[in-house]
Formats: sequence, structure tokens, C-alpha cells
Amino acid sequence: MAMIAHKCRDVVVEVVDVNAERIAAWQSDRLPIFEPGLDDIVRSARGRNLSFSTDVDAAIRAADIIFIAVNTPTKTYGVGAGRAADLKYIERCARRIAHSLKGDTIIVEKSTVPVHTSELVKTVMEARSGGGNVQVLSNPEFLAEGTAVRDLEEPDRVLIGGERTPEGDAAVETLTSVYAQWVPRERIITTNLWSSELSKLTANAFLAQRISSINAISALCEETGADVDEIALAIGLDSRIGPKFLRSSVGFGGSCFQKDIFNLVYLCEHFDLPEVASYWEQVVHMNDYQKGRFSKRIINALFNTVSGKRIAILGFSFKKDTNDTRESAAIYVCRHLLQEQAHLAIYDPQVSEEEIRAELSASLDGDGEIEVCTDPYDAVRGAHATAVLTEWNEFADLDFASIYEEMLKPAFIFDGRNILDLHKLRAMGFVAHGVGKR
Ligand code: UGA
Repeated sequence: MAMIAHKCRDVVVEVVDVNAERIAAWQSDRLPIFEPGLDDIVRSARGRNLSFSTDVDAAIRAADIIFIAVNTPTKTYGVGAGRAADLKYIERCARRIAHSLKGDTIIVEKSTVPVHTSELVKTVMEARSGGGNVQVLSNPEFLAEGTAVRDLEEPDRVLIGGERTPEGDAAVETLTSVYAQWVPRERIITTNLWSSELSKLTANAFLAQRISSINAISALCEETGADVDEIALAIGLDSRIGPKFLRSSVGFGGSCFQKDIFNLVYLCEHFDLPEVASYWEQVVHMNDYQKGRFSKRIINALFNTVSGKRIAILGFSFKKDTNDTRESAAIYVCRHLLQEQAHLAIYDPQVSEEEIRAELSASLDGDGEIEVCTDPYDAVRGAHATAVLTEWNEFADLDFASIYEEMLKPAFIFDGRNILDLHKLRAMGFVAHGVGKR
């Protein structure tokens, strides 16, 4: 929404939420999320054509276009628990819109939703008492965290799904004309509603599948002496495969991939397609295997016990340039090490101590301990091992000679992101491990 306000001065954007604390944070000098470049855009548009408010009903009444951008987490209860998307926030939004709406409106599904969710929104709208024509569009978001501003400024494509009727086409054209103020028209593609909804889940499933595929090969590399980065380079130069999303790692994280695959799996099961469901589910299984393999490797290398040992954890967010920790592989690895009674010294340049403690508190009932450090050199001091779990640029630039001096010997280092030069580290005296490298 900030990008629309930034690019389209003639569009008035009002962001509303029932969470007053969140809205206050968006109005303040300290935005609630860390995202490179976002501060500048919000600050320049705020007070001009971008505002934040808790007056949800007034915003609904005033709007020509309403974006529903609430979260759709995996259900934790009842039918479909652990798999299906929880659509209660979408439904509550739809009901609130139906309650307050006056006149013609376009409702845009921005949230990631299962195919056919727009049917739910339409049904709620059709049952309302007020007049006016309502069109429901699907406009999934493809930005990635950490690169959101660039992804929004120059998207590979903008996807808009609508009903194939004259009213539906008109609504699609209205939304297209907003994006067309900065996105070339040939990159704005339009489809029917179901294709648009399903494209979003499919895109994330394909991206996650590439990571699980290269991670599966990384296990074989560690056994055979092949190097997974060399393989990624060799296959990525095939223009049919392409070089992106082939970085082997400790495992993918983030709020989207796992949730969206489970959602896809649930849909397949719902439509009685068990083979298709288990095909996609394997992408998540492979990711769990990769996370587990990494922590086991640390334990095995440290003579099969980490009990009472200090292990420095560099990076806690699910990828660099974000403070988001949702489903971060670091959480999984840290929990496993804590169960084995390790003492973890954790450093991340953006994730707060409060957040780290909240993620790990449930694993602290045994003899495992955590210390959250504000400097990476404090974390490694006296450590038996160092593990790099997020690919923050600053980690590659650390002074490893002094880190080696500060650590206990033998000094073990595990690079879960393949951002360090293992040969150089070994020459310094480290026992160095990467992913997919022997
Ligand atoms: C992902 C998609 O990339 C976006 O297109 C989509 O819009 C978004 O989900 C969403 O549905 O909202 P995001 O989760 O923010 O974006 O970040 P990614 O860059 O996709 O990274 C996901 C995870 O995969 C991270 O843990 C990252 O470290 C890992 N990864 C990525 C790898 O391990 N290897 C790679 O080669 C690439």
C-alpha cells in the first residue's frame, strides 16, 4: 500500500487495522517491521496520500477499492488442523465490509488464500442488505521479504484475476490502471479468479521445491565429495533451469512456503488427489530432513555431545535483511541443540532479544541455556563451535582470525548458508563444515 501511495499521487491510501498498537507503530518514527527502503517510502507518503487508522468502518464507507490483506495462517484446531489455511480473518473482513459498505466497490484479495476463497467473499457480499455493485478480484502478492521495495518497484509481473463478465472486466481494468502508473502494461497479466488464486500457491510451491531439490542433492554431495555449489552453478547455466533459488542451505523458512504447501496439500486431499498431495508434501518433509541433518551434524562433529558446550549462533531471522523469524530454520536448529543441553550464544543484527527468547522459551525447561548477544565477537568468545544460520552480509566480513583466537580448540565452524570460504577457515585452523560439501 505504501508503494501504491508512493507511485500514484492521485490515489489516497488509507491503511486500517483493528490492532491499535500496530497502527500506532505505523504512525510513529519506528515502523513495526525492518525492511530495507521501506522507511523512506512510508515517511515520504505518510501525511500526503498515505494514512494509518483504526477507523475501519469509515475507511470502508469512503473506499472505491478495498484490499483485504489479513493473514491466513495454518489452522491449529479442528478440521484441517496443521494443513488448511485459517480463513476466519478473511471472513471477518468480508462481514465487516458487508456491514459498512455504501455504494459500488471493488474488493481485492491480497492475502494468500486457497482457490475458491473469493466465492466466500462474494457470498457474504451478496447476502448483505445495502445496495451497490461489488466486484471481487484476486491480486496475489509475489514480493519477498528483504527485497520487498525492489520487488514492488519492478515486479516480474502483477497478476489480477477477475470474473469474466463486463462488470468483472471493468473492475480488473480499474485495478490495472493503478499498477499501470509504474508497471509496464505487458507485465500486468489478467486471468480468471481461480487461476489467480491458485497461481500464488503454485509459485511458492515451485520455489520451495527448487530449494528442497538442491538440498536433497546436498546430502548426496556430503557423502560423495561433490560440491553442491559447483552443481548449482553447472545446472543453473542451463537456461531451462536458470540460476535462481538453487542456494543450498540449512533449510527454507519464512511465513509462506511451508504454510502454502500445506494449504496446497490440503486442497489436493479435499479434491481427492492423494498422489498430488503427497508429491508436494515431500517438499516440506525434505526441508525438515535438511534442518534435522544440520543440527545432527553439529552434534556428531562435537563428539556426539553438546551438553554444557557453548555454541555461537550467528543469525536467527529466516533470511538476511529482515527481522522476521517465522519458521526460521534457526529456531529448529536451536531447539534441537537445547534439547541436547547446549549453551547457545545467539547474535542477530536485527532480531530482538525478546523475540529470540519467545521463540525458544518452550525449549528451556531442561539444562540448555541461551544468552543473546549484541556483538558477534561476544557470542564466539569461549565457544566450542560457531554456526552460521542466516546469510547476513556482515558475517562474511567478520575477522575470523580473531574469532579463532577467541574460541576453544578444536574450533568448529558450521556454515549453514555457504557464505564463508571453508578453505581459508581451514588454513586458519578451524574444523569447517558447509552444506553439501565434504
Ligand atoms: C516467498 C516468495 O519468494 C515470494 O515470491 C512470496 O511472495 C512470499 O514468499 C510470500 O508468499 O509472501 P519470502 O518467504 O519472503 O518470499 O523469502 P524467500 O526469498 O522466498 O526465501 C524463503 C526461504 O528460502 C528463506 O529461508 C531463504 O533463506 C530460503 N532460500 C531461498 C534458500 O534456502 N535457498 C535459496 O536459493 C533461496
